[in-house]
This record gives sequence, C-alpha cells and structure tokens, in this order.
Amino acid sequence: KDISVIGVPMDLGQMRRGVDMGPSAIRYAGIIERLENLNYQVEDLGDIEIARPEKQSIENEGNLKNLNGVLEASEKLSESVSSVITNKKFPLVLGGDHSIAIGTLAGVSKHYENLGVIWYDAHGDLNTADTSPSGNIHGMPLAASIGIGHEMLTNISGYTPKVKPENIVIIGARSLDEGERELIKEKGIKVYTMHEVDRLGMTKVMEETIEYLAHTDGVHLSLDLDGLDPHDAPGVGTPVLGGISYRESHLAMEMLAEAEIITSAEFVEVNPILDEKNKTATVAVALMGSLFGEKLL
Ligand code: ARG
Ligand code: MN
Ligand code: MN
Ligand code: MN
Repeated sequence: KDISVIGVPMDLGQMRRGVDMGPSAIRYAGIIERLENLNYQVEDLGDIEIARPEKQSIENEGNLKNLNGVLEASEKLSESVSSVITNKKFPLVLGGDHSIAIGTLAGVSKHYENLGVIWYDAHGDLNTADTSPSGNIHGMPLAASIGIGHEMLTNISGYTPKVKPENIVIIGARSLDEGERELIKEKGIKVYTMHEVDRLGMTKVMEETIEYLAHTDGVHLSLDLDGLDPHDAPGVGTPVLGGISYRESHLAMEMLAEAEIITSAEFVEVNPILDEKNKTATVAVALMGSLFGEKLL
C-alpha cells in the first residue's frame, strides 16, 4: 500500500515551543527516503497550517489552553487524513504535539466500523478540562476520542465517539493523573504500564495486544515519542524516566509489521529544540522503518 505523509506543526496543545518543528526534524532525518527504500510509493502532502501562538486570536477557554487553534487544526487534519484513506493510501501523520490525535482519529474513524487504537505513550492522555492539572490539550486527545470532555473537542468532524474504550490498548504508561486512573477503571481500558512491560516483556505485551485487537477492522497506532525512555528519546516536552527502550520499541514495531494490522499511524511530540542532535527524530524514523517492514536481514 502506498503512503501519504502529512506534517502537523502543532504546538498549541502544550506550552513548550519547538514541537512545531517536529515534522521538519523527521523529514530531515530521512523519513521519505527510508520508506521509498522499502519500495513504497510515498507522497508528501506537506504541512497542515497551524495558527501561531503569538496571535491574539488564540484564546484559552476555561481550563483548555488554545482551544480555538486546536479545533481549527483538528478539522483541517481530519479532512486531510480522511481524503488520504478515500484515495486508498496509508496516512502517516507527523507531529507536532499529541493534541493532533483528535484530528487524526476524526479523519480515520469514519472509515471503519470498529477501529482499534494502540496508544504508545508514557501518559494516558485521558484528561478533560475538569481533571487536567495543566490545561494542556495534548493531555486530552484519547479522552476526547472516546467522547469524553468538551463537546467541541469530542465532536470534531461532527460525530462522536471515534473509538470505543474496549478497542484501545495503552502501552508504556508511567505517569497517570488521578482522573485518568479513574477513567481507565470506569471504562475498563486495557493498559500495559511499565510494570507489565517489565514483567511480561515486550514480546508478550505485543502478542496480547494483537490478540486483543483481533476483532477490529483497522488499527491506528498513535506513538508518542515520550513512551520511550528519555535516554533514547530526549527531545520531548514531557519526559518521564523509566520508559520503553529503543530495542523494545523496534521489537514492538516489527511485531506490528508482521501482524499486518496497522492501517494508519502518527508519530508525535518530537521537539528538536529539546533534542540532542536530532536524535529523537532519528529514532522516530528508525521505528517507522520497522513499522513498515524493514528487516535487518
Ligand atoms: N498528564 C499531563 C497533562 O495532562 C501530561 C500530558 C502529556 N501528554 C503528552 N501527549 N505528552 O498535562
Ligand atoms: Mn506522552
Ligand atoms: Mn501523548
Ligand atoms: Mn544507554
């Protein structure tokens, strides 16, 4: 299947500047060539236009920072992702902060009856304005996608929910806020925290994840680079110690490639300003290589 790449230079979902340069950093690290070398036809659709935080039209609403800017970008991204799928191509979205998942999932989900989501992340991103300690929308996209939170965020593209809680697997969690823990319990969301990753090993975690999602008709991979240990992926805005290793992450991507279940993907939170010589974008590109079938031998 051919791949369409969409850049989303989004930094309105959190307060640290530089994550808007993520798509450039990932392109500079060679994503297009990497995928072409795997014999895909790759089309780079360029970047979605994002309002600049300096502009005064960007306003907070309650505990939702930059709400209007995030909404505007989400609608545009949703349209773009949806037309990629209509054209029978694989949408590969490059972030930008994780608030973009609201738009990506809005564009993806209408094409599936029973979409699955793998959320590879140190965080749950299951906050709402009421539970968020920060007001940053990048901590809310998974909640919005299951239909919880501000109606403007849950209703992108005019429908809700995008995903059923029972079709979600979170992998790598190690920083969950109180409200997120309650929501996970209430909705019965499947979570492999770092405890399970350590205890079971990544092989088992991925085997179980693939089995758990076997009944779905498509699986979206939302990979936040902060799911990895900051030692391996230092260029992220909200690093948390004790994360998934580079090798475990490759294994996870390779197992997903082998299972052939991923139908759309996004790689988010790459912030080259906080990085070490573009290491995090380079890691992201290497993981995308494995996800799309690259093999050592
Ligand atoms: N839980 C924290 C919050 O809601 C951190 C969220 C981090 N999210 C992310 N996509 N990096 O503010
Ligand atoms: Mn995160
Ligand atoms: Mn995240
Ligand atoms: Mn080391």
